[in-house]
Amino acid sequence: MGRVRPVKIAGVGCYVPPAVLTNFDLEKMVDTSDAWILERTGIRERHIAAKEVSTSDLGREAALACLRSAGIPAREVDLVIVASASPDYAFPATACIIQESIGASKASAFDMEIGCTGFIYAMATGAQFVATGAYEKVLVIGAETLSRFVNWGDRATCCLFGDGAGAALLTPGEEGEGIIGFHLASDGSSKDLLKLPAGMAKMPASRETVEQGLHYMYMDGKAVFKFAVKTIDAAVRKVLEKCGKKPEDVDLLIPHQANLRIIDSACQRFDIPREKVMVNIEKYGNTSSASVPIALCEAVEEGRIKKGDLVVLVAFGAGLSYGSIAVVW
Ligand code: ACO
Repeated sequence: MGRVRPVKIAGVGCYVPPAVLTNFDLEKMVDTSDAWILERTGIRERHIAAKEVSTSDLGREAALACLRSAGIPAREVDLVIVASASPDYAFPATACIIQESIGASKASAFDMEIGCTGFIYAMATGAQFVATGAYEKVLVIGAETLSRFVNWGDRATCCLFGDGAGAALLTPGEEGEGIIGFHLASDGSSKDLLKLPAGMAKMPASRETVEQGLHYMYMDGKAVFKFAVKTIDAAVRKVLEKCGKKPEDVDLLIPHQANLRIIDSACQRFDIPREKVMVNIEKYGNTSSASVPIALCEAVEEGRIKKGDLVVLVAFGAGLSYGSIAVVW
């Protein structure tokens, strides 16, 4: 193992499928209203992948956009990590599929599954390979087609989720820049609050699992809401503590986009002004592990991050899990 060195984000990219499903479209599918969804979640519309498009397709587009923004050819990538709760298959890894499709011929590749916190875990993991000198260029992707696992007859969940992908390229940085700390956590005692019950080893697919709708996502929305507000606050405080920073040092907070009320409540607890918080949930809904990298990508494209800024990424999700990363841009 080599020496520990700074790790920076050398490029970002994102992609959402073109088809848009608005709240007004949902009004025609279930007993809901644009007003309810907007007021209770902050979501106006979400993008939904076409039938023939899967998670690896969205991830590939985000990866290619990311490499273009970094000016790095795919053949130089050493490792591809994909965070996804909706991978193409149980196996092979979606990361292997993307590695081949972008032409990252020398890269190793693996998937990580930790719900909506996936991108934070993947970035913290990828950074270790660069920090130790094991690898020079690590491509971290969050990609999802969660629309495949949503019960489109259940108004409480179908309005929340959307499809998309985001990516970041990690490379060695200069002293004082890049990822300065992370905090990862899990609370397995809450594992049943958010789950996809059937289709894997615990409950393989059968006629009964299909008839009982067990291939759809199950969520105790209220309990997850409470967990989220508490843990966003805790995760941000923890990572700042580890880095010797204060809440007022944060220039931009990029939270997982699950519900605008969760973001607002967490910001109140944390006492951070709304203009320092990246919010794009109205356009995409909850894209799970793609939500933080899509928001990061848009923040960069909108010029909301300048060199030297302290940016904090934070997410929570199935597990239940949560985590945060602090980056000096
Ligand atoms: N349209 C109209 N009414 C609705 C809808 C809808 N789409 N959904 C629920 N309602 C109704 C309910 O039936 C209920 O009616 P009732 O009082 O007659 O029973 C009423 O609205 C209130 O429902 P609540 O569940 O109390 O609504 P709440 O304000 O809690 O919002 C929500 C529900 C949006 C799901 C919220 O709890 C939430 O966002 N929770 C967190 C979800 C989350 O963050 N998930 C992260 C997943 S991360 C991952 O890893 C995938």
